Amino acid sequence: MQTLRDLSALRSAVDALKSDGKPLALVPTMGALHDGHMALVEEARRHGRHVAVSIFVNPKQFGPNEDLDAYPRREAKDAQMLQSAGVDILWAPTVEVMYPGGFATNVSVTGISDGLDGAARPGHFDGVATVVTKLFNQVRPDVAIFGEKDYQQLAVIRRFVADLDLPIEIVGLPTQRAEDGLALSSRNAYLTEEERKAALALPRALGEAKRQIEKGEPVEGALAKAIASLAAHGFDPIDYVTLCDAATLEPMAVLNRPARLLGAAKLGTTRLIDNIAVDPA
Ligand code: PAJ
Repeated sequence: MQTLRDLSALRSAVDALKSDGKPLALVPTMGALHDGHMALVEEARRHGRHVAVSIFVNPKQFGPNEDLDAYPRREAKDAQMLQSAGVDILWAPTVEVMYPGGFATNVSVTGISDGLDGAARPGHFDGVATVVTKLFNQVRPDVAIFGEKDYQQLAVIRRFVADLDLPIEIVGLPTQRAEDGLALSSRNAYLTEEERKAALALPRALGEAKRQIEKGEPVEGALAKAIASLAAHGFDPIDYVTLCDAATLEPMAVLNRPARLLGAAKLGTTRLIDNIAVDPA
């Protein structure tokens, strides 16, 4: 595995790798890798593809009062994991390489990025869309792999890739969970032992609401019960627990087409998100 930090070295390595005609898959990450990320890497390797993984903690997607400085950075361990997984290129640019002086461009997706995390974290999806566009132009992959854990992020990425005619296939993978059901996340490292136990209330509340809604109980009541359960387990604030159209993310009051139930809430200082499919009978 080659670890690269500047653009000209990356370009040469990508050209050399692609010279055999096999496709190149990219897995963009912010590091502090866990089995969720590694499932994306495994998917990237399928079909004999070459694999590039990026690690870049992107300042533009963190709000002024968010956890940019505290975000876990473990590049040596990450590199070992990626090397053992057979990754060809680790692209780990510095902030100066990604955003040199004078940088002035923003990729902004309207509509699908306005609600949910877009409302709770203003500017977040502009930061994501801008850096992912740059990563695509830097690495020039044929395929890019993302997790459904960040369901709205995946929808935003699918939107700008279609809108901008980017010649990249976007693959979404199901959320990887700990044995007890908590979605794996780099931010779980922030949780105290007690918070880690309470965190389970999030997937459980979403699972219970899904069962109720699929049984035909009113959506509003099921969401209210989920919110009450999160509050009872100490989540505060609860940014949202919402049923949305699975493709457009428009809020839904009645389950009449494939939907997604999404939740985001803070436990202590840690903001957790999760989501689950809800399907009409
Ligand atoms: P990060 O949070 O590091 O996640 C990198 C990728 O791993 C994303 O596609 C995310 O959805 C996926 N992922 C995280 N936890 C997962 C889990 N439990 N199961 C399956 N996939 C999981 O998302 C980002 O970084 C950034 O916003 C990024 C896209 C890299 C742009 O900066």
